[in-house]
Formats: sequence, C-alpha cells, structure tokens
Amino acid sequence: MNDIALEASPFAPFTTGRLTLRNRIVMAPMTRSRAVDTRATDDMVDYYRQRAGAGLIITEGTQPSPIGQGYPDTPGLHSAAQVEAWAKVTAAVHEAGGTIVAQLMHVGRLAHPDTTEAAGHGRLTPVAPSAIAARGQIHTPTGQQDLVTPSALTEGQVDETIADFAAAAENAIAAGFDGVEVHGANGYLLHQFLSANANLRTDRWGGSVENRLRFPIAVVAAVAAAIGADRTGLRISPNNGLGDTDEPDAAAVYPQLVEALDPIGLAYLHLVEAGAPELTPRIRDAWHSALLLNPVGPDLSAHSARLDLITGGTADLVSFGRLFIANPDLVERLASGAELASPDMTKAYGGGREGYADYPALDESRVLA
Ligand SMILES: Cc1cc2nc3c(=O)[nH]c(=O)nc-3n(C[C@H](O)[C@H](O)[C@H](O)COP(=O)(O)O)c2cc1C
Repeated sequence: MNDIALEASPFAPFTTGRLTLRNRIVMAPMTRSRAVDTRATDDMVDYYRQRAGAGLIITEGTQPSPIGQGYPDTPGLHSAAQVEAWAKVTAAVHEAGGTIVAQLMHVGRLAHPDTTEAAGHGRLTPVAPSAIAARGQIHTPTGQQDLVTPSALTEGQVDETIADFAAAAENAIAAGFDGVEVHGANGYLLHQFLSANANLRTDRWGGSVENRLRFPIAVVAAVAAAIGADRTGLRISPNNGLGDTDEPDAAAVYPQLVEALDPIGLAYLHLVEAGAPELTPRIRDAWHSALLLNPVGPDLSAHSARLDLITGGTADLVSFGRLFIANPDLVERLASGAELASPDMTKAYGGGREGYADYPALDESRVLA
C-alpha cells in the first residue's frame, strides 16, 4: 500500500514522543570545539541553523558539569550564561523549521586537568567508576597528553553526578532545546560504568551486569523524570572499544540494558553500530520506541545503504556525522541525488568559521559558481 511505502521513506516526517521530525535523517552529535568560555557563539548559531533541514539535530557533546568536560572549547549546560548562549542556537534552528536536542556528555576518566584549567575551573582530577586510567592520550589545550588516573566516585558523588545530568537537562529545556540525548557511548562516563575493565567497583554500582547497568539507568531515569521521557534519548555503542573500554560480555549487557529502559518510554535509542552489529536485531526487538541507527564505517560513499536501513525497517531513523559537516543541506542532496561534498577533517576540531560554518548549500554554490 502506498501509505506504508510512504511511512518507510527516509524523507517522510516522523513523530516520536514530543519530538516532531521533518524527515528521518538525523545529524549525529559532533564535538567541534568552537565554543568560547564554554558558551555557544554566533558561528555556532550559523552552523546549526544551516543544518536545520535535518530531521533532528543532535548537538555536539555538552558537559553537564565542569568535571564532565573532555575537550578544549566545548560548551556546557550548567550555568545561566551557557543557557543564554544556547538559546540563540535553538531559536535560530526553530526559526528555520528544525528540531534540536542537546547531547549531554560527561567524559569521566577521559577528562584532563589541563582542559578544566583552561576552562577556568582549576586543575580538576577526572572522576570515574574506578581509579583506573584509560590507556592512551587525549587532546588538551597543551597538546596531546597521557590520560591520568581518575578518582573513583564516592557513593555521594555518584548521586551528585546523576543530579547534575538532571539539572543540565532542565537547563537544556530552559535554553529552548526540544529535548536531550544522554551520551552513554564512545567510552565516556556511562560507558565506563558498563564496561568490565573500567568499572571494578564492589558496591551496588559495579560488579555484576545488573550493578554495572545501574548508573546509566539511574542517569536516564533522572533525566526523564526531570524533563519527560518523551523528549529524552540515549546513545549507546556496544563493544566499540573507545576510551579503552573492554566489553567481553556486551551480548549480556546491552539487551539487558535495553529491556530495563524500554518501560521508561524514551523518545529514542541511538545505537552506534560498530563493535557488535550482531546485537542490532536483538536490540530492535527489545525496544518499542524509535531506533536511531548510526552504522560506523570509514566509507563516506555508503550513504544510500544507510538510507536503506529505514526503507528496509532495520531502523526508524539514521544519523550521519561527517557528511553533515560538509553538506549543510544533506537531506536535500540525498533526496535529489545531488553530489556530496567531502569534509576537511583537519578542521574538525577548533578554529573559526573555516571548515565549519562556511560550507555552502547546493543552491548557494550554484549562485557562487
Ligand atoms: C568531528 C567529530 C566529532 C564527534 N563528536 C561526537 C560527540 O561529541 N558525541 C558523540 O556521541 N559522537 C561524536 N562523534 C561520532 C559521530 O556522532 C558519529 O558516530 C561518527 O562520526 C560516525 O558517523 P559518520 O560515519 O556518519 O561520520 C564525532 C565524530 C566526528 C567526526
């Protein structure tokens, strides 16, 4: 039937919870390190406005607290000044007909004292489930630095961190966002709690699979209680190994996590499909709300296969990261089969408008040509 065919089109509108999407193609969260004093700038207003044709924009990772910041020049959502600056972004996106949620990202043990110092918060020691340093280095204002040994969150600090997420979610709504995405992926704090090698706690926040799920579930539940489950999303990345996470039991952890979260009725689950693609059908089956899929692969030309995931029913929504950097009007280009521009990844992090807010839309480049 035509109606059914229309429903499965990547270009058809989609509603989930309180989120109304003009199409099913989502801009994935991307840290771009262009905030000033942890606040959104006019360049950021332009950058997000230009991409309002996405069904949903998920912002760059945004710290819910000073200690949650992971990279230089990233924005926060824990002060009135940050809320005020973000409000210009959300107003611009809404004026252009778009929908935008804030990604709340606490990096846990991947933070660095040089970064918190440059942000004006002093040399903070990172916090994590356990006092275990991740192997590797991280980008800081003083260049690449070895990751440091974090301090293990006390039970009181665990509760405070959960409260920080809820407060940041309320701030996001005050700033005009349509909702928030909790970052539970890519080796950051929530993922560290899930991961067998990063979480060696012996209290109720660690040990068994059930205990390791407790913190991510508590954060999501607190955010949902604060602003409504129907405008809260969660991002996960089973077994992708980022941030030195090791998940030999991903096949037990993630289906159980999804089953536990399903009754909360979140707006969506954002699944980064990298290290355990075999779990995707199980997660799809266990999840009754919208599934947003981000199949990670190096090949930027595989975009039509990604759209097929919607047509074929594997996912309700799909997200694109790098292609949205270079193609502000990505949805229109995909719809018309137009040529896609390639991003200059040397300008991914930091700098000014160049390689950021100066990629033309197709119509503009025709005018310029
Ligand atoms: C420059 C850059 C910054 C990123 N920052 C974030 C981030 O802040 N939060 C997040 O969850 N993922 C982040 N990612 C991962 C993307 O959301 C996405 O998963 C990844 O780019 C794969 O999708 P793609 O193949 O469409 O680019 C980032 C990726 C890139 C390229």
